[in-house]
Amino acid sequence: MPVPPVTGRLQWTDVPTQLRARLEDALDTPVADTATPAGGFGHQLAAALTLECGRRVFVKAAPDDDPLTPANVHEAAVLAALPPGAPAPDLLGIHSTAGWTAVVIAHLDGPHPDLSPASTDAEQAWALLDKLTSSPAPPSYLAAVSTIPSTAASLHGWDELAADPPADLPAAARDRLQQLVELEALWPAHAHGDRIVHGDLRADNMVRDHHRGVTFVDWAHATTGPACIDAASLAPQLVLAEHVPEDVARLLRDHPATANSPETTTAFLVALAGHWHRDARKPTPPGAPGLRAYQHRAAAASLAVIRLRLS
Ligand SMILES: Nc1ncnc2c1ncn2[C@@H]1O[C@H](COP(=O)(O)OP(=O)(O)O)[C@@H](O)[C@H]1O
Ligand SMILES: [Mg+2]
Repeated sequence: MPVPPVTGRLQWTDVPTQLRARLEDALDTPVADTATPAGGFGHQLAAALTLECGRRVFVKAAPDDDPLTPANVHEAAVLAALPPGAPAPDLLGIHSTAGWTAVVIAHLDGPHPDLSPASTDAEQAWALLDKLTSSPAPPSYLAAVSTIPSTAASLHGWDELAADPPADLPAAARDRLQQLVELEALWPAHAHGDRIVHGDLRADNMVRDHHRGVTFVDWAHATTGPACIDAASLAPQLVLAEHVPEDVARLLRDHPATANSPETTTAFLVALAGHWHRDARKPTPPGAPGLRAYQHRAAAASLAVIRLRLS
């Protein structure tokens, strides 16, 4: 397997010639141009291909012995099984050859949404989540996600941080460390449910398509769980996008996805914050240079919301 680049993603020209030829064959026209969108921390190929006919498609690809390939295969199964009207692009195909696998997805045209208070994109994302989680996932989706165990239930971090608190742990965490450990310990019992969970919702895993509006991409972590998971994970993202934590706490109290399960929402947020506070302090993994700095910011943002829910 090629060593992943320490900065940036694999490029179209890194994909074996046989797989490129297979894709061009399946798409019925040669690739004229490729563009790697900003966003994400992965090292795999994730590129918009412009075909000679002018049409665009989106492709994710990696070697078969790269752990991202099973994630891409999972994403393909999920995209094929989401109910009609779900805020996701269509799956166009999946191709394996020469020890690599590529997933071809309908191209969405537009920037990442602006989750700041200046835009209505965050409102759109909340509305999509309220709708997506208002009824149980269909059987096709349950079958698609059943092959991969959900990792959401195993989120934690405060237990490890409390055992040996780092010197730079913020006072807001240090002062209520025992309470955070106890709340986080409640999460696994609340983590199961029958709703669709995207599992990795951030602005860079959404595209504001010119026709469809805000649409969720990167369904590689999709699973089932309680309705609140995606909406609660949007909360720290909104703080990072400069919403004041008080407004975000109000959204959590008001939106059906989170309002109907306040204890589960708090337990999830605390477990997520613990995971970020712990992982942010680990060494940088290869191919993801910005990950730890992001986790530090996300850890602080989630704590700002949690403080309001606990006070
Ligand atoms: N269907 C799509 N159409 C257009 N751009 C997309 C599409 N899916 C993802 N992207 C863009 O590509 C980036 C990387 O894709 P993503 O699926 O998030 O891969 P990764 O798992 O590597 O983060 C996203 O941040 C987004 O900007
Ligand atoms: Mg992504």
